[in-house]
Amino acid sequence: MIIFVICLLLLMSGTVSSHAMDRPSNGPDFEYLVGKDTENLLPIPPLLENVSKDPKIVQYKLNVQKGVTEFFKGAKNVTYGYNGNLLGPTIRVKRGQKIKLNIKNSLWEHTTVHWHGLVVPGNVDGGPHQTIEPGFEWNPLFRIKQPAATAWYHPHGIGNTASQVYKGLAGLLIIDDENSSKLPIPKDYGKNDIPLIIQDRRFSSDGYLQYINSMQDIMEGMKGDTVLVNGVVNSYVKLPAKKIRFRLLNGSNARVYNLSFDNNLTFYQIASDGGFLEKPIGLNKLVLSPGERAEIIIDLSKFKKDEVIHLVSDQLRITKIIVGEKLEDKTLIPRKLVNIREVNLSNVVNRRHFKLFGMGHMVSINNKRMNIRRVDEYIKLNEKEIWTITSRMGMMMGRMHGMGNVVHNFHVHGIQFRVLERNGSHPPENEGGWKDTILLRDGESVKILTKFTDPGIFMYHCHILEHEDNGMMGQVEVR
Ligand code: C2O
Ligand code: CU
Ligand code: CU
Repeated sequence: MIIFVICLLLLMSGTVSSHAMDRPSNGPDFEYLVGKDTENLLPIPPLLENVSKDPKIVQYKLNVQKGVTEFFKGAKNVTYGYNGNLLGPTIRVKRGQKIKLNIKNSLWEHTTVHWHGLVVPGNVDGGPHQTIEPGFEWNPLFRIKQPAATAWYHPHGIGNTASQVYKGLAGLLIIDDENSSKLPIPKDYGKNDIPLIIQDRRFSSDGYLQYINSMQDIMEGMKGDTVLVNGVVNSYVKLPAKKIRFRLLNGSNARVYNLSFDNNLTFYQIASDGGFLEKPIGLNKLVLSPGERAEIIIDLSKFKKDEVIHLVSDQLRITKIIVGEKLEDKTLIPRKLVNIREVNLSNVVNRRHFKLFGMGHMVSINNKRMNIRRVDEYIKLNEKEIWTITSRMGMMMGRMHGMGNVVHNFHVHGIQFRVLERNGSHPPENEGGWKDTILLRDGESVKILTKFTDPGIFMYHCHILEHEDNGMMGQVEVR
């Protein structure tokens, strides 16, 4: 009943006052989107340079800073970036390496840097317990123990994750291992191995970033109608007529993408969040919810020079691909990528249930909202558990909201898990590998197999960032 009343009040309060993001004070005021149709060459995030003199350690420096970005010519937005104006460099590491990071917070607000997808101890995970106050540094040290994968890093402060990611804080973290360097797949970064950080934004008609200005934004999380790929609008990329690998990251606050090519091209998914799938899976559509990654290979060898295809998500254009010269191609789409051990349910020690509920400000997991001083689940190191995650909007809320568009997903820090069941059946093939984030539409239920191999405090949460900031998050302590 209380929820009903609050919900009603929220709905009745009508339009939410719109707030634009910061503008640099001397920015010109444009009446229309300057260069709305201008296309931008897809930038490739640079690889971050190792500054270590000690051969036994790799060392990276990140500065979390304020910058200025013109998404549309002439409209200068205040944005955030790692070592730059927007987004961050790609950190590339090898399995077995010891990594040291020097991270400086040059913002005027607190932040953290979380390694989404890394299996590391809780005290270096970069969650909300590792706050970096303005002007301070954080110097975590950890070893990479997991197989090759595309992970990423982003802020994780209590209450300001969504706005900081929206302003530009996100970067890729690529793990290589012996297998990934031996496989005959495309692996020339920026040439035939192309990262695509997909994010949606909303702009005012004069080209300035907008954030949360409707009731729907509050309920479902912030979704924009303009797609950024690697930080630019209207992106295009010229690629040789051969096999191309894309590393896809949904770095959006709330949007779930339904990815496909506009010519219905079949592509091959080779990796999910935590690394390679056992074998490539031929697909025409791929759903990617916030935080999830997928690696795919497309074969452009059958296309003519200057042919154009688009990566799309329903009505949205993600990026434009212009086919170039036919070059010699030694790469393959192998029949087998890696051995993934079969799910083994013996020695499952414990079962837990996580109930995702609500929308807007009334989101919860197991009827609780995040409290940093409360540990929600105590877990023993190296013990296998089965977690059931369910999402139910509740009839009343769903009906009142009247759109049933609210989705959640579930992300766990510190582990890669296996999906046992989706809605009582076998998960789809491309959820058969290692995952750290999984989509749940209203009414869905997913069973996963978990095992924490590192101690500490870890978060689990909905990766719709506005839901997370509104408290749709909990903590486990592993010891
Ligand atoms: Cu990608 Cu807890 O985050
Ligand atoms: Cu994470
Ligand atoms: Cu959610």
